[in-house]
Amino acid sequence: MERKQIAAGNWKMNMDYNEGRDLAKAVVSGLQPSDVLVVLGTPYIHLKNINGIIKDVSNIKLAAQNCHQEENGAYTGEVSAAMLKSCGVDFVILGHSERREYFGEDDKLIARKIDIVLRHGMQPIYCCGEKLEVREAGKHEELVGEQVKTALAHLTKEQMAQVVVAYEPVWAIGTGKTATPGQAQQMHKHIRSILREKFGKEVADATSILYGGSVKPGNAREIFAQPDVDGGLIGGAALKASDFLAIADSF
Ligand code: 13P
Repeated sequence: MERKQIAAGNWKMNMDYNEGRDLAKAVVSGLQPSDVLVVLGTPYIHLKNINGIIKDVSNIKLAAQNCHQEENGAYTGEVSAAMLKSCGVDFVILGHSERREYFGEDDKLIARKIDIVLRHGMQPIYCCGEKLEVREAGKHEELVGEQVKTALAHLTKEQMAQVVVAYEPVWAIGTGKTATPGQAQQMHKHIRSILREKFGKEVADATSILYGGSVKPGNAREIFAQPDVDGGLIGGAALKASDFLAIADSF
């Protein structure tokens, strides 16, 4: 198993219907053929339409940004894994720090979401990362290690082989303050060592671990060059096709 290099965009709560369609079309038309997997993480309203726009391009996939942990039922306003699957979704971003901060999600809940996403044949992009005060206290490896273990340790090797991990230090998200390539590498290496302990070398070596937090065309190359960094989860810079394409071209 060889691990994939991935440039994933997380549009967050941006782009109305027409803007999202135009952005997806611009990414499709500007994308160079390569082995890098490009993922568009869009709000729910875009999924079905963008699935149609990307369907003939083999290296672009579709991601949702959340999913409910139950199969179906009386959960007004929520969206299920089966619904996402039926719209052509390949990946689901889970455990983003904004979901943790504003919607009270913790790793036990995220573990349930991971399970249901896997059950429906989609791949979770599991996000973890520490806040600034944790890093300043020197506890970042411990905290991220706990996050990873709580959310993922119950999986089988076969299930873990479907998971992408995204390390997103909270202090670097939307702040313009990026982790140094060295800080990213150190944490990615730590995460991979935990995966190796739990799932063995083959699975750990094949897991794509993405870095997220103020990745831009100007800093992507240096970050992606780190041996344990397999790509990025891109927020702000994914909203402009030329920036996102330049990042996807930075491997
Ligand atoms: P920014 O790239 O805007 O810092 O956002 C990162 C992020 O949260 C991606 O999920």
